[in-house]
Amino acid sequence: MRKRDFLATEDLGAEKFAAILELAARVKRGEVQGGLERKILAAAFMDPSLRTRTSMEAAMFLHGGHMIVLEPGKGSWSWETERGVVMEGTAVEHLIETSRVLARYADAIGVRVFPKGTEWVRERQDRVIKDFAAYSDKPVINLESARRHPCQGLADAMTLQEKLGNPKGKRFVLTWAWHPKPLPTAVPASAAIAAAQLGMEVVIARPEGYDLDPDDMAVIYQQAAAAGGRVTLANNMSDATVGADAVYVKSWGSLQYYGRPDEEKAHRAGLRDWRMTMAGTKATKAGKGIVMHCLPVRRNVEIDDAVLDGPNSVVVDQAENRLHVQRAMLLDLIGAK
Ligand code: CP
Repeated sequence: MRKRDFLATEDLGAEKFAAILELAARVKRGEVQGGLERKILAAAFMDPSLRTRTSMEAAMFLHGGHMIVLEPGKGSWSWETERGVVMEGTAVEHLIETSRVLARYADAIGVRVFPKGTEWVRERQDRVIKDFAAYSDKPVINLESARRHPCQGLADAMTLQEKLGNPKGKRFVLTWAWHPKPLPTAVPASAAIAAAQLGMEVVIARPEGYDLDPDDMAVIYQQAAAAGGRVTLANNMSDATVGADAVYVKSWGSLQYYGRPDEEKAHRAGLRDWRMTMAGTKATKAGKGIVMHCLPVRRNVEIDDAVLDGPNSVVVDQAENRLHVQRAMLLDLIGAK
């Protein structure tokens, strides 16, 4: 049987997506013990993490398995990720050998690799995570790549189910927020895809120049259509959040100015009022709409203190759910059958 990877929630299909969320709820209620005994996850963190690293390690441990963390260039060799290069620079080994070798020791390989912010036409191909999957004969788990953060997407979906009951038809607003740096689009794309998979009314509010990649938008539209939801675009944060059941606040960099940070920064400078305030929170449905963020969050830059510390915020529940959905995903992918 061909090995399965976990690279994007849309790859799961509707049935498996629902089944993993159901299993995650059972895991969270304490109904599932064991299942990963003597299983090993090799987790390669090419970029930093708090939640992903800690929750994946906890998930493996809680079901009897073990996670080995690798940080290339810090205790493991630095890796070359480009194909076909003459390796006479600083990188000591290629991801081709890395992937093949780790697959001999581990039952699955996790990879976190952010885009470099230089050339979207190349980086949008998500080559590094795809090459790990291509060269490993064991499942590869995306711990956030240039285009997707599926573990976050699953946790977002679980949180929406917990907080809203059946989310189908409910209003999910993904809103851009100002941030001092141009951040990747993997989280906003994955969150919108997950909400679309739940059949929600997905609204994406963003300023001019901050459209998501057209292929990501196509996936969001496809998933919404398949699940009976719909998608609309908005260009004003405060109007979009009125009546929302859920507001997902997230910053991302402009793809229009990708690789031109000075121009992007100048364009972004006039957008500081794209910030989630208490007034915006009170305008949500009956003032009770949930406020979401993947974390880490910049307080009083993306979301005000009063919102993060108030009753609408579910950001810590979202972070907790990372653990439960990853336990379910790991049991499904490499667990004892
Ligand atoms: N949300 C998230 O992935 O957090 P980390 O970057 O801390 O892993």
